[in-house]
Amino acid sequence: MGPPTGDDAGADRFLPRPPARSVSPVTTDPVVVRAEVARAFCQAVFEGAGVPRADAFLVADALIDADLRGVSTHGLVRFPIYVTRVRQGLVKAKPEMRVVGGRGATVLLDGDHGFGQVVGAEGMRRAVGLAQEHGVGVCAIRNGTHLGALAYIAAMALPHRMIGLTMSITNPVMAPWGGVVPKVGNNPLAVAVPAGARPPVIFDMACSQVARGNLILASKLGTSIPSTWALDEQGRPTEDPNAGLRGSLMPVGGHKGAGLALVVAILGGLLAGSPFGAGCGDIFDMTRPQRLGHLVMALDIAAFGSAPVFLQAMDGMIADLKDTPRAEGVEEIWMPGEMEGRRREERLRDGFPVSPAVLDEVRAIGREFGVQWPA
Ligand SMILES: NC(=O)c1ccc[n+]([C@@H]2O[C@H](COP(=O)([O-])OP(=O)(O)OC[C@H]3O[C@@H](n4cnc5c(N)ncnc54)[C@H](O)[C@@H]3O)[C@@H](O)[C@H]2O)c1
Repeated sequence: MGPPTGDDAGADRFLPRPPARSVSPVTTDPVVVRAEVARAFCQAVFEGAGVPRADAFLVADALIDADLRGVSTHGLVRFPIYVTRVRQGLVKAKPEMRVVGGRGATVLLDGDHGFGQVVGAEGMRRAVGLAQEHGVGVCAIRNGTHLGALAYIAAMALPHRMIGLTMSITNPVMAPWGGVVPKVGNNPLAVAVPAGARPPVIFDMACSQVARGNLILASKLGTSIPSTWALDEQGRPTEDPNAGLRGSLMPVGGHKGAGLALVVAILGGLLAGSPFGAGCGDIFDMTRPQRLGHLVMALDIAAFGSAPVFLQAMDGMIADLKDTPRAEGVEEIWMPGEMEGRRREERLRDGFPVSPAVLDEVRAIGREFGVQWPA
């Protein structure tokens, strides 16, 4: 199958949404897959490609976690391109990550083109360590690669009773506000905040309305797209996916989303000395490493006051928000990350859906490494 996305964003979920026009990579008759089976399979293949055992587990776990949470754009569907890139050396199986700068609570890490999840996890480990000492820890990363679903890294701060924040620059897919040529990534950011008895709040978004993959899919299916998804080459909203593919993606929230994408590019890219715009490689460009920048931050809530009081305040805020009178047709008010967390529990129990086309491709890659998908 073709690339699911040239950029990112989009998942298989959520209300309220435009009826049936939003297209997901999981389209027809999905196969139900068990998380532990898929994870062990992916890990074995990554190990076969030379990735050390612990790192192979981490990358596999991050992919499967995305599927469990319903973020299917960042799950198994990414496995083929991840394997292809590590095989070709565009992602290094054994990166030599190095600290190349930093002072006090900050550190600058050169990710040496390792898997984004491996480099991002190392960044969060360092950020948490710094936050234990200083109350806050910030790790800027250069020479990173695709970071997957950013919530995975941000949530690594939660067991330490810290707030985790992750940002990443991506290859350009959006025009600057008022422009007609894509120069800005859809630059995702995630913030994970612990609560007391309630589940953590995990907000994780990209700055484009939808992933470019949704336009590719609509083009293949010959369907139109909502006029809020993309701009044509003249910068006009379009319902034609092909015109959108020749043009640029629409940011969320108009000029504010465009501004947010720029801020993430600065904090999650330029700050680490990473390139901007065309200097950031597309995951499907097999001619060069991606050279992406990331920013990983941990805030120790105890450094700002009483941790129990904060956690209680979080619970109180969540309860108050969820108790808001609801609009017609809305059954529940969700906190960011709550729906994904609930889905994760269900899918851990029952398995998660994968399109047969994706699964066929995943299995075929396994055969190349002598790794069989269990019957
Ligand atoms: N690695 C990369 O380069 C890259 C690039 C872009 C996107 N991504 C990833 O793509 C994924 C999807 O991004 P997206 O922008 O499509 O996310 P989204 O629009 O599906 O969700 C954004 C946020 O809104 C929350 N949300 C959704 N519906 C809600 C509701 N009804 N009530 C309350 N909260 C709700 C979600 O919990 C989430 O935190 C993310 O994991 C992101 O990190 C990665």
